Amino acid sequence: MIRFSQAALKKVDELRSKYPTREACLLPVLHLAQKEFGYISLEAMEYIAELIDISPAKVYGVATFYIMYNRKPMGKYHIQVCKNISCNLSGSEDVLKEIKSILKIDKGETTKDNMFTLSTVECLGACGFGPVVQINDDYHEQVTKDKIREIIEELKKK
Ligand code: FES
Repeated sequence: MIRFSQAALKKVDELRSKYPTREACLLPVLHLAQKEFGYISLEAMEYIAELIDISPAKVYGVATFYIMYNRKPMGKYHIQVCKNISCNLSGSEDVLKEIKSILKIDKGETTKDNMFTLSTVECLGACGFGPVVQINDDYHEQVTKDKIREIIEELKKK
């Protein structure tokens, strides 16, 4: 049975007092759950529904609507490559190919050592600085094949 840590439960209390309705704090609570559990499982959705007293169907609807909520276990580093037009025109396809070649995985897959998961996304909101790659909470702009290779090598050392 999954449960938030004491620190996360304290944060949930803070969120509940900060937002006007229980539904309004659902997004940050889901974000917190993703940090605590790594991804949002059905069990996590049921737990959150009970915790903030809203229906499991509502939690499921929101958690499955937004792509930032992971529905399956992820690697330690989630690499998201923007494939939308600006990034595409500035070379995101080459960057994606380079990542696949380095990590020997396709998009939607995780490396065997659970270090990296690769995804593509539609837009990361930094269109003037493409190609843009998000790794966990960090943005990397104007990424080249050499730059992504360096970034991945650095992450492997951590
Ligand atoms: Fe890549 Fe918007 S098109 S960040």
